Amino acid sequence: MAENLVLLLLLILSIPVRIQSAKPQSIHGVCRSVTCNSLHDVREKLSDCVVIMGSLQLSIMERTKKQDFKNISFPNLREVTHFLLVYRVQGLQSLGILFPNLARIRGEVLLNNYALIIYDMPKLKEIGLYSLLKIDRGGVIIWGLPQACYVDTVYWKIIAPRARHVISPPDKHSLRPCNVCRCSLNSSLNHCWNNMKCQRYLEGPEGEVCDKQCLGCRKTNATVCSVCRHFTYRGNCLPECPNSTILLGTSKYCITAEDCHDMDGWTWNKTCIFQCPVDYLQVRKPDGKTCEYCRNCHQTCESLTVQTTESIQLVERCVYINGSLTIHLGSLIEAMTELRTFLSRIEVISEYLVIYSSSTVTSLDFLSSLRHIKGNKLVGEKFSLVIHDMINLHSLFNENVSKNLQIDHGTYQMFNNPLLCMSHIDKIKDLFPEEPAEEDVIQGTNGYGGNCEEASVDIQIQVVNETCAVVMFSPLPDPDVHYSVLYVRMPPEINKAILPETCSQLEWFAEAVPTKFGQNVIVQLTSLRPASTYAVCIETYDPVYHRLARSRILNFTTLVGIPEPPFIIESVASSYDVIVLSWVDHKDYRRLISSYELDVVLIDTQEILLRNNCKSMGDEFFDIDYTRHAVVMRPPPEYGKSCESMCGFLSTVTAGALVEDHFDVCDNTLLGCKIQKDPRPGNTSFNNYVKTLSLNITGPKNAFQIGNLAPYRDYSFRLRACFNSSCSRSTKSIVRTLRAFNHVDVPRETVATIKDSRIVVSWKPPEITNGPILAYTVELLPKIEQTSYLIPQSWCVMGNITSFEIVNLVASTNKVRVCSKTLASLNTCNEWILVTFSKPVLRSWAWWSLLFGFMLYGLSLLVGSLWRQREDRSDTVSLVEWTNN
Ligand SMILES: *[C@@H]1O[C@H](CO)[C@@H](O)[C@H](O)[C@H]1NC(C)=O
Ligand SMILES: *[C@@H]1O[C@H](CO)[C@@H](O)[C@H](O)[C@H]1NC(C)=O
Ligand SMILES: *[C@@H]1O[C@H](CO)[C@@H](O)[C@H](O)[C@H]1NC(C)=O
Ligand SMILES: *[C@@H]1O[C@H](CO)[C@@H](O)[C@H](O)[C@H]1NC(C)=O
Ligand SMILES: *[C@@H]1O[C@H](CO)[C@@H](O)[C@H](O)[C@H]1NC(C)=O
Ligand SMILES: *[C@@H]1O[C@H](CO)[C@@H](O)[C@H](O)[C@H]1NC(C)=O
Ligand SMILES: *[C@@H]1O[C@H](CO)[C@@H](O)[C@H](O)[C@H]1NC(C)=O
Ligand SMILES: *[C@@H]1O[C@H](CO)[C@@H](O)[C@H](O)[C@H]1NC(C)=O
Ligand SMILES: *[C@@H]1O[C@H](CO)[C@@H](O)[C@H](O)[C@H]1NC(C)=O
Repeated sequence: MAENLVLLLLLILSIPVRIQSAKPQSIHGVCRSVTCNSLHDVREKLSDCVVIMGSLQLSIMERTKKQDFKNISFPNLREVTHFLLVYRVQGLQSLGILFPNLARIRGEVLLNNYALIIYDMPKLKEIGLYSLLKIDRGGVIIWGLPQACYVDTVYWKIIAPRARHVISPPDKHSLRPCNVCRCSLNSSLNHCWNNMKCQRYLEGPEGEVCDKQCLGCRKTNATVCSVCRHFTYRGNCLPECPNSTILLGTSKYCITAEDCHDMDGWTWNKTCIFQCPVDYLQVRKPDGKTCEYCRNCHQTCESLTVQTTESIQLVERCVYINGSLTIHLGSLIEAMTELRTFLSRIEVISEYLVIYSSSTVTSLDFLSSLRHIKGNKLVGEKFSLVIHDMINLHSLFNENVSKNLQIDHGTYQMFNNPLLCMSHIDKIKDLFPEEPAEEDVIQGTNGYGGNCEEASVDIQIQVVNETCAVVMFSPLPDPDVHYSVLYVRMPPEINKAILPETCSQLEWFAEAVPTKFGQNVIVQLTSLRPASTYAVCIETYDPVYHRLARSRILNFTTLVGIPEPPFIIESVASSYDVIVLSWVDHKDYRRLISSYELDVVLIDTQEILLRNNCKSMGDEFFDIDYTRHAVVMRPPPEYGKSCESMCGFLSTVTAGALVEDHFDVCDNTLLGCKIQKDPRPGNTSFNNYVKTLSLNITGPKNAFQIGNLAPYRDYSFRLRACFNSSCSRSTKSIVRTLRAFNHVDVPRETVATIKDSRIVVSWKPPEITNGPILAYTVELLPKIEQTSYLIPQSWCVMGNITSFEIVNLVASTNKVRVCSKTLASLNTCNEWILVTFSKPVLRSWAWWSLLFGFMLYGLSLLVGSLWRQREDRSDTVSLVEWTNN
């Protein structure tokens, strides 16, 4: 690390000399590399840039102050194709104001191993690059920011996933305590750039949902892209470049040939370039520059030491190395890919080749064109090839190179390469003019990691049941040999044969074999997982010769048994009579599920009906549960990816609290899986609606729609996954259908008859109701003095009653109606019925006192109904806390 930093520092200091961008220019927002060493540079050079084809460097501004940056902002800048370096800029407090829309750093060229370097910034308070979504290549280094907060609150791994980052730890002695983010309930997504700006995500549960041309977009408008996913032409995102345009370099920006010319580039292979690609030579033609293929335009490089991603890339054009090549990469991530891309042209090395301490290098096949090591100068005057401390190197050059490589002088030295078998070393032995001495390739320091010798043990495997198998083999004649059985579960999806190299004790389970055994060794492997394929091998160890050997690898598959239950991820009412379920199968059983059993049961509401709903008509009643039309849950890890249809939608609509966390499918005894087999409910119905339903669904499937359900009712769903005839335990979900609006809840055939001085009202229950009928209200509207009606008087009647007598009437003319209360609607009434008496029933002084009473009552009704409207808004899909139910 320290070494890295020193190196970086040296590099940074050398930059202003190394890269001198010529005149600053922007053609339709495209700029070349920009280096700013003063405030003036910053203002002048960056003003129109949308994309910087190259690097952006702000460095060594020792006299700038806080106020200087107050006013400077480059909202146009969206993308940098190489790296972004900010180094020793005094007074700068945040990069967020400078580059509020910088969304992508491509890292096509890196500084050291890094694409974003923020270093030695005494006044920086935060990074603040809140629009930054993606760093394509290279890592992030942030160091020497004594005052900064919100450095480790950024989830750098998700911005730049394929690289290592160096983030300075927060200063414990800092005077400024740093706040924590409040961005997400999911702690692994709770990341921010400062206390105002949350981190944005391209993918995952909180990923931005954008137009398909966009990589990131505005929250309020999915078509306004942060940067384009495919091609960009004059600020628009397109699936490909328009016909009349060419690509700019390796970027995805489209420009015209004239623009290219204006930038001092030239058109070649429908691309605007500034330098010919590898294997091409620049030639001048009457109509401008072009590139011509050349077989012999080999480039010669001086001695090379490859230590970082950047230095690997600098080797790209080298064919002849007039000197030595040294590779020392530590644990550089993605080293093999980079090496294969950039070292493949090397043909000749005039001195020697040294490779050491590079743990991510597994093979030397990246030197695919190497044909000659001259050995004009040797390591220790002896070696033309040195390989040591390569803990993962398991093979040398590829076949073609091993066969044809010419080595003029010297021999080789190899040690501490645990996976490199002597057989590989022996293969290239004859290429060297001299043989190594014994101490140059010390016995036992290569290939001791185990995979080099094959033990000829005869293995037999017997699968006992879902979790148990027995391994048998006959021991070798040598009684001193120790054995262990190594086994590993193979991921269900991957079906490729595994390499013997992978039979190592690190990842495999090891079962020691007792030292005493008879004719046959029998080892029982227990705690296996059902329906899984395991690979097995026997490792032998000879303590006398310190020799480790492995047998060939066999595989076996455990029995399936009873599958694990599916996991219901979404149960969503899509209308008043349809519910859609979707689920995921357990990963281990996904390939095996042949059918599902689904039981649907209307949840009995007797309990509600038994209550006296006239007495308990307070708000408490309507609080029961209004929001149970959608339940969305994210499954445990063994259930794989899911939550595709609703999660994104719900998370954008209902920011904050939304998708439920998973809990183990069967943990919760109330909601989880029942082990005992209930009889299936069969098919029954009421009023043509489903009451119970038993379905057999052929698999594989992961969604099912159930129709013909009754409106605003809770249904419970039990789902089982079956392998042949054995079905899993049930997984359960409860959802309520949506409310129906037309012709529901209205009491039917209401009749009002006069009996003496009373009115007898009778009716029939509504045909369709939103949930059960809880109660009725009978309303009476008396008419005074031939002119106006009073405020209605009403009586609550229990839901199982269908007639009512009104006594103590005051007016001779009255209107009567019946209203019903259900879970979804407070008051759905039928038409008024006119009822007229032949003589008045009350004297006129009583009117006014009654009127006053009615007015009070009416007022309270009005207030009550307003109150309820407030609570009763959400009939659309709304999310629910599963745990509340
Ligand atoms: C800041 O910008 C405004 C408007 O662009 C300008 O009027 C003002 O002078 C600037 N202030 C400084 C300190 O540059
Ligand atoms: C949080 O989000 C991460 C990243 O998408 C996901 O893998 C994880 O399962 C989530 N954790 C919880 C507790 O929801
Ligand atoms: C989104 O942005 C585009 C392009 O600027 C515009 O045409 C469209 O009207 C916007 N849509 C909304 C919903 O604001
Ligand atoms: C672009 O070129 C393709 C193929 O030459 C042609 O089919 C297409 O019509 C052209 N589009 C435009 C807009 O000229
Ligand atoms: C020309 O461009 C195409 C498409 O970008 C690319 O596939 C091809 O390799 C290029 N040709 C050469 C010779 O570089
Ligand atoms: C499988 O067999 C082993 C050994 O006979 C036994 O201990 C275990 O309980 C069995 N497991 C099941 C699921 O039957
Ligand atoms: C398992 O072994 C069989 C033969 O014994 C072989 O055909 C098959 O490819 C092996 N499967 C895997 C995943 O290695
Ligand atoms: C109506 O229900 C109530 C309470 O459950 C019960 O006491 C009453 O007897 C029922 N009346 C009729 C007519 O069924
Ligand atoms: C579903 O499958 C079970 C068992 O295989 C069978 O008994 C039942 O009749 C089937 N039900 C339907 C509706 O097909």
